[in-house]
Amino acid sequence: MTITIIGTGFVGVVSAAVYASLGNRVIGLDIDQNKINKLKKGQVPFFEADLEELLIEQQKAKRLTFTTSYQEAISQSEIIVIAVGTPSAPDETADLRYVMKSAESLAPYLQKDAIVAIKSTVPPGTLEKLIKKIKKQSKVKFYGASLPEFLREGSAVYDTLHPDRIVIGAQDDFVFKKLDQLYEVFKAPIVHCSVASAQMAKYTANTYLATRITFINEIANLCQKNGADIEEVINAIGLDQRIGQHYWYPGLGYGGSCFPKDVKELAAYSRTVGEEGNLMNKINEINKQRIFDLLIDFEKKVNGFADKKIAVLGLSFKPNTDDMREAPSTKVIPYLISKGASIKSYDPMANYEEFTNEKHKEHQQVANVKQAIKGADAIFLLVEWPKIVNFPFPEFKEKRPQTIFDCRNQLDPDEIKKAGYQYVGIGRS
Ligand SMILES: NC(=O)c1ccc[n+]([C@@H]2O[C@H](COP(=O)([O-])OP(=O)(O)OC[C@H]3O[C@@H](n4cnc5c(N)ncnc54)[C@H](O)[C@@H]3O)[C@@H](O)[C@H]2O)c1
Repeated sequence: MTITIIGTGFVGVVSAAVYASLGNRVIGLDIDQNKINKLKKGQVPFFEADLEELLIEQQKAKRLTFTTSYQEAISQSEIIVIAVGTPSAPDETADLRYVMKSAESLAPYLQKDAIVAIKSTVPPGTLEKLIKKIKKQSKVKFYGASLPEFLREGSAVYDTLHPDRIVIGAQDDFVFKKLDQLYEVFKAPIVHCSVASAQMAKYTANTYLATRITFINEIANLCQKNGADIEEVINAIGLDQRIGQHYWYPGLGYGGSCFPKDVKELAAYSRTVGEEGNLMNKINEINKQRIFDLLIDFEKKVNGFADKKIAVLGLSFKPNTDDMREAPSTKVIPYLISKGASIKSYDPMANYEEFTNEKHKEHQQVANVKQAIKGADAIFLLVEWPKIVNFPFPEFKEKRPQTIFDCRNQLDPDEIKKAGYQYVGIGRS
């Protein structure tokens, strides 16, 4: 099959490389000339495990090419997958500008019986709008579909090659059959459903996971008040098979490129259909406020952050990615600086470009944990990168009073306290 992927961002590049590895001819299309130039040279503009190798391999096999030309890509494609960004608009609804723009650009070159599938996360009603837009410029018969994406950054290539399920939202048997052909090689369950159900499934999955995180954070707040330890509570509840041990992450709140945006967008969508005060709206508000409530609390534990030297460990929103979209560090570092602290930060991959020492002399990014914590009054462990959590903090305890804010509950509190640090975890005393 010949497939065009529109938008060679995170999802687009991963999908393009994986679809090519299945033997398809894939064209990655983007309006960003710099990105396309890099990709043509086999360079991935962000870090994702195993991706660059796969990309180069598929380019060498001549199954994968990149272009900025809609005409070149669309005029030879049977399947067109839209994977452009859908950031939140100022009113927190999904900003569909890029999706609609791509519809406009592809329409003149569409081939008969082509399938135009939206992989970007979009609310119900979007595919219908997209089809209408294309029909204004194209007279050929084509089909629409929804193909929501469930991959996780940090294990995106693996997830795409080993999906838990494929969800196809469509109206026509032709679309189901053709997309089944593309995906049957994965041997994963393929869910056929309506377009609206597919779009809701994507928002529901992310909002459910965000809800779990918010829920356990609220329980952690209660543990903090009564001496219970959230990790012991998780262990106890997790043995209940209805609940499970997995996916409990007490911390500063969920971040990343998807959860905050998707919950916000589902909350905003809820408001447009008359469901103003629903759970999604509450979760969004609780999560937005949480990090600042905790920072105020932490501030009291060290008698203010003014003139304090602080190490921030972990800048990305989670390990194994350099993605900093809605990462805790992007809130913690500006907050600490606004309170008069000076910061040395370390991350194995991510660069906090907007907040480096060139632009903010109070923030210096350093090369390792040791350099970051040298002379620190307080240490913020924000991300559970192995290089951070496996660091022998007790061996580096200095004579001065030092506090470790273990924002991911990764360290052994007894060991840390024994070494002489003040230990502050989440929902544990
Ligand atoms: N990142 C994830 O982990 C993830 C997971 C599942 C779903 N999603 C969803 O997938 C979509 C894409 O996310 P992403 O993280 O890959 O976004 P991204 O911002 O990394 O990439 C979007 C790309 O689209 C390109 N683009 C914008 N307008 C274009 C146009 N008119 N024509 C061609 N290219 C255009 C941009 O230049 C950019 O390269 C979003 O809807 C997101 O919610 C993301």
